[in-house]
Amino acid sequence: MDNRQVCGGELITPRLRLTPLSKDNRSLIFALRSDPRVIMHTGISQYMKVDEADAYIQRIEQEKQDDTCFVWVINLYSTMDQVGTICFWNYSADKKSAEIGYDLLPAYWGQGYAPEAIKAVLTFGFNRYGFDSVFAYPSEANAASCRVLEKAGFQLLEKSITKNGENDYISRTYRIIK
Ligand SMILES: CC(C)(COP(=O)(O)OP(=O)(O)OC[C@H]1O[C@@H](n2cnc3c(N)ncnc32)[C@H](O)[C@@H]1OP(=O)(O)O)[C@@H](O)C(=O)NCCC(=O)NCCS
Repeated sequence: MDNRQVCGGELITPRLRLTPLSKDNRSLIFALRSDPRVIMHTGISQYMKVDEADAYIQRIEQEKQDDTCFVWVINLYSTMDQVGTICFWNYSADKKSAEIGYDLLPAYWGQGYAPEAIKAVLTFGFNRYGFDSVFAYPSEANAASCRVLEKAGFQLLEKSITKNGENDYISRTYRIIK
């Protein structure tokens, strides 16, 4: 079995338990991806049916087998409430870098859960996956996400502006090196 799959199990932090995404998480995925507050800055199309969550989980399982993506569910350690997800995806061809993504249900925002989960998966990504660097590309308008990355130690590399009709879309490139 591939080394990444052997390593790709649970991660524990003081308040969180990160578990590999599975079919049991369809309600969480639907709750996240059907909520306009969660997807607002992500470019994800709003889910209308829970079947879409099933299709997503199936796709992620295939991508995990292909070693192109890994998604954890963020659970509260105390209650095992499923509160969000965090992932590595968009690996470079040499598998030395990846993009990080994350989302939480709004009821759990503002309690530092995202930075806690990010730090755990970064340690794992650098020490077990062998990444040299991890990137993130939040919209500049997504102040919470930019702040979370900065709190987790990412550095802002650049901003890029895309014309979107009358409006400019500004995205930021953040990177953290091992
Ligand atoms: C981004 C997200 C994961 C943050 O998670 P979180 O666990 O709530 O993060 P934190 O508890 O560390 O709080 C966010 C930080 O951003 C700050 N923040 C939040 N909204 C803000 C705003 N509108 N302007 C400025 N700062 C803001 C908070 O004050 C806090 O910083 P602080 O600890 O210095 O006070 C969460 O908001 C979320 O799931 N958003 C929807 C999905 C998403 O956008 N994912 C990222 C795609 S790139």
